[in-house]
Amino acid sequence: MVALACRRLEPWPQRSRVVHLDGTLPLPVPDGCADRFVAAYVLDLLEPAYARSVLRDAHRVLGDGGLLCVSSLTWGRSLAGRAVSATWAKLWRVAPSLVGGCRPVSVKDLLGPEWQVEEDVVVESWGVASEIVIATRDPQAVRRSL
Ligand SMILES: C[S@@+](CC[C@H](N)C(=O)[O-])C[C@H]1O[C@@H](n2cnc3c(N)ncnc32)[C@H](O)[C@@H]1O
Repeated sequence: MVALACRRLEPWPQRSRVVHLDGTLPLPVPDGCADRFVAAYVLDLLEPAYARSVLRDAHRVLGDGGLLCVSSLTWGRSLAGRAVSATWAKLWRVAPSLVGGCRPVSVKDLLGPEWQVEEDVVVESWGVASEIVIATRDPQAVRRSL
């Protein structure tokens, strides 16, 4: 993944840096340094408590007006989608490696009140459902929780 990312980012050497991390939080970047935090098909691999910690750290890392962009396996909405996600989740419970370690999750349910959800859509392809969420920091919610 690192080699692939490096190749894809070659045209923008001044604007990109690829760093291989071990998942330890907090991420080694300053508060408010990013305008986007993108996680594609990662949260569905993580324990819910750790996924929530990642999202809290994303909130720290994003500056005002920053956007969180997350895609994840999720629960199907159509008949076929519901059947696929229920079967997927059952297989995951029996042997996670059978389904690559990931299972359907609800990204929206992982987000705390410090996020304002701008978009939350579910798309299905061959019965496999993905949730795509775009959220902004909600500074008022942070103030309310203090
Ligand atoms: C299904 S792949 C998705 C890769 C890429 N985002 C994409 O869409 O092509 C899941 C990725 O999550 C990474 N991963 C697994 N556990 C992680 C963790 N605790 N923290 C960060 N990344 C993790 C894996 O190394 C893998 O690259």
